[in-house]
Amino acid sequence: MLASGYTSRPMTHPALSHRFCTAPMMDWSDRHCRYFFRVLSRRALVYTEMVTTGALLHGDVPRHLDFDSAEHPVALQLGGSEPADLAACAKLAERWGYDEINLNCGCPSERVQKGAFGACLMAEPELVADCVKAMQDAVTIPVTVKHRLGIDRIEDYDCAHHFVETLAAAGCTTFLVHARNAWLKGLSPKENRDVPPLRYAEAHRLKRGFPGLEIVVNGGVHTLAEAEIQLAHVDGVMLGRAAYHDPYLLAAVDARIFGDSCNVPSRRDVVDGMIRYARRQGEAGVPLRSISRHMIGLLHGEPGARTWRRMLSDPRLLAENRPVLFAGAVDAADAGQSGRAARAAA
Ligand SMILES: Cc1cc2nc3c(=O)[nH]c(=O)nc-3n(C[C@H](O)[C@H](O)[C@H](O)COP(=O)(O)O)c2cc1C
Repeated sequence: MLASGYTSRPMTHPALSHRFCTAPMMDWSDRHCRYFFRVLSRRALVYTEMVTTGALLHGDVPRHLDFDSAEHPVALQLGGSEPADLAACAKLAERWGYDEINLNCGCPSERVQKGAFGACLMAEPELVADCVKAMQDAVTIPVTVKHRLGIDRIEDYDCAHHFVETLAAAGCTTFLVHARNAWLKGLSPKENRDVPPLRYAEAHRLKRGFPGLEIVVNGGVHTLAEAEIQLAHVDGVMLGRAAYHDPYLLAAVDARIFGDSCNVPSRRDVVDGMIRYARRQGEAGVPLRSISRHMIGLLHGEPGARTWRRMLSDPRLLAENRPVLFAGAVDAADAGQSGRAARAAA
């Protein structure tokens, strides 16, 4: 249970909403990060890091698939291009309780290109369609695809249109569109998230071209105001870096994006929820830093942010493994702030 009464997956779970999603992010959107996001928003659909079929079929399955029941709704992102392997992994993920399987067709890293999956799959829509079909035949949960608008320097709407059309014919109904190309040569994965120009208009055109499909825009959305602008054109929006670096923006998602009549949790509510979580995790042997590292941005833009960041990154404090550090850090951030205010008023 979470601080504010979250429960595990309901027996009959409603259709998944993609109206607001947090992005799959390697090394960032691990289970502790997703739990933190869930304390901030009940409604956001959270995505795991990409897990390759090889890692699942030959590696440590619990390490890759274990998650807290409070994380629902949670989608597992798979990386692979062998329909039979993807089907086996999708089946495994469904058994572990994931709410959705997502196929990565957007990652441009060289390692992923060598494995012939990720963004290079955009050049092979028929193969992706086979992958989607194989997964859909293996599970009852939704199978979705995250992709780019195209690859390399060819900025041609027809590429994305043909890709989506081919997958739709295979039964895929939800597309998470990182609204820029992936340049497979000459850019690092990090540069590939910034350098190829964003083309939101083409993502919007996909929605107009396929009104019956669910189109979710991703890439370069920094605020809920920007998310709302996208939502005028498409079904959903997915935030990656902004959610990670300024996570408190998620606190307003349920009320503002979903129209829920609920209180926005304060930063202190969030800290209290995370202290309880870190205590439970600590009993299971999880070091505090595995959790705290995702919380560094919680006071982003606030006056005490530096104090908070400094305390949550202090190796000596973290080595004590005492979750109450979070309360101490938020108190210190506040005290520093009121001290400054008092000095200014004197
Ligand atoms: C650290 C990091 C790791 C990422 N790992 C993945 C991944 O595993 N799978 C994926 O589809 N995209 C991955 N991405 C890309 C994001 O999902 C997203 O498409 C991209 O960051 C653009 O969205 P944003 O501008 O909201 O961050 C990653 C992004 C970052 C910053």
